[in-house]
Amino acid sequence: MLSNFLLVATAASIASALSPLFLDTPPSQSQPYAIKRFAPAKAVAVGQQIYRFPVTGASSDGKFSLLSTSAPGSSSLGVLPHQHYLHFENFFCLEGRFQLWTSKDDSENGRLMTAGDYGAVPPNTTHTFQLLDPFSEMVGAIAPGGFEDLFFFLANSNYTAATWSPYAPSNSSDSSSGGSSSEIISSLQSYDVWAQLDYSPRRDFINGSAPSTSGWHSSSNTLPNSDHTPYFVAKDYGPKYLHTSSFYQIIQPFVTPAQAGAKNFTEGTITISKLPSNATIESTTLPDHTAFEVLSGELIVEMEGETLSLVIGDVVFVPGGTEFKYYSNAAFTKFLYVAAGTDTLDQRLIAQAKTWGYPVFPTSWP
Ligand SMILES: *[C@@H]1O[C@H](CO)[C@@H](O)[C@H](O)[C@H]1NC(C)=O
Ligand SMILES: *[C@@H]1O[C@H](CO)[C@@H](O)[C@H](O)[C@H]1NC(C)=O
Ligand SMILES: *[C@@H]1O[C@H](CO)[C@@H](O)[C@H](O)[C@H]1NC(C)=O
Ligand SMILES: *[C@@H]1O[C@H](CO)[C@@H](O)[C@H](O)[C@H]1NC(C)=O
Ligand SMILES: *[C@@H]1O[C@H](CO)[C@@H](O)[C@H](O)[C@H]1NC(C)=O
Ligand SMILES: *[C@@H]1O[C@H](CO)[C@@H](O)[C@H](O)[C@H]1NC(C)=O
Repeated sequence: MLSNFLLVATAASIASALSPLFLDTPPSQSQPYAIKRFAPAKAVAVGQQIYRFPVTGASSDGKFSLLSTSAPGSSSLGVLPHQHYLHFENFFCLEGRFQLWTSKDDSENGRLMTAGDYGAVPPNTTHTFQLLDPFSEMVGAIAPGGFEDLFFFLANSNYTAATWSPYAPSNSSDSSSGGSSSEIISSLQSYDVWAQLDYSPRRDFINGSAPSTSGWHSSSNTLPNSDHTPYFVAKDYGPKYLHTSSFYQIIQPFVTPAQAGAKNFTEGTITISKLPSNATIESTTLPDHTAFEVLSGELIVEMEGETLSLVIGDVVFVPGGTEFKYYSNAAFTKFLYVAAGTDTLDQRLIAQAKTWGYPVFPTSWP
C-alpha cells in the first residue's frame, strides 16, 4: 500500500511540475508557450517523414515557422527539387544525417549535414534533401511564417503516437517518402513551391561536400554579405562571439540582418555556461517574437511567473514585449534561436561581445 501511495504521489508531482505554459499544439495566436519535443502536436505524415510544427504562422503573427522532420533513411530524395520565390528556408541537423543541395546562379553545392550543421536556402534557390541515417531529425526555420500549410496539404495522414515516438517504425518499401509525384509538386505554386524537375543533384561528394574543395568541417565558414546567396555553416566553424555577464554566452549566428534582408529574421545558436551560485540574472524584453529550441544541456526560461525547464528538442516561444530570463544550471547548454526583426537577442549580445575563436567559454571568470 505504502509503495502504491508513493508511486501515485510521485506521478502526480511529476505531472504538476510541468508548467501550464507547455502546450501539446502551438496556439492559434501569439502568446507565451513552450512545447516538448515530439509532443502530440498537429503532426502529419508525408510518406515516412513526420512533420511537426512547434511554431506556426498563426502562433508567430506570420513572422516565422519552426518545423521538425523526423524520418528513417531513404534511398531517394526526400522531396523533389524546387524553389520558393517568397520564403527563406533554413535547414539545421538536430539528429542523424542528411544531404542538402542548393543551386543558384550556376553554383551547385551539396553538403553532408551532421548534428549542428546549418544550410541557408534564400528565395529562388533550387534545393532538395535526402535523409540518410536510421533516425534523422531536421529542424526547419522558414520566414515569413505559414509555410506549414503546404505540409497539411501534402499529408498522407495525421500522425499520432501514444508513446511520442519520433516516427512509426515499419518496413515500408515506400521509404522514399515525401517524394510527392511530379504531378503533385507541379500543382503547389499557391504554396510558393515551384518545381525544378529537370534539376539533378550532383553526387560527387568527397569528405561530405560537393564540390570537394569547400573545406566542409575543416576550415571556417563565413556568412555572405548578401541576402540571396545560399551557404552552409558547419557546426562550430562559423563566426563566434563571447558575451560576458554573470555567465558566459557564445553566440554563433547563422543568419544576421545582412543575410535575411527583407525577410527580417535572425537565426543561430547560443551556448551558455552554468550560472554561478551568487549570480544575478537580468531580464530581457525584446520588441518582436523569439523562439528557442534546446540542442544540449538544460535551458531554464522564466516568464509569466513560470519557470520552464527545457531539454533537447523542446521549444519555447517568447512573444515580443514579454519580459523573460534565461540561464542554465547545466555545465554546457546550447540552444537554437529564431527571432523576428533586427533588434533581436543575438544582435544585442553581439553588440556587447568580442569576437571569439572557440565553441567553449573560458575556464575562469574575467
Ligand atoms: C524569384 O523568381 C521569380 C520568378 O522568376 C521572380 O519573379 C522574383 O522576382 C524572384 N525573386 C527574387 C528575390 O529574386
Ligand atoms: C487531419 O485531421 C484534421 C482534423 O484535425 C482533418 O481535417 C484532416 O483531414 C486530417 N488529415 C488527414 C490527411 O487525414
Ligand atoms: C522488419 O523486418 C525485420 C526483418 O525481417 C523484422 O525482424 C522486423 O520485425 C520487421 N519490423 C516491422 C516493424 O515489421
Ligand atoms: C578528405 O579528407 C582527408 C582527411 O582530412 C584529406 O586527407 C583529404 O585530402 C580530403 N580530400 C579532399 C578531396 O579534400
Ligand atoms: C561570485 O563569486 C565569485 C567567487 O567567489 C566571485 O569571484 C565573483 O565576483 C562573484 N560574482 C558576483 C556577481 O558577486
Ligand atoms: C522588421 O521587424 C521589425 C520588428 O518586428 C519591424 O519593426 C520592422 O518594420 C520590420 N522591417 C521590415 C523591413 O519589415
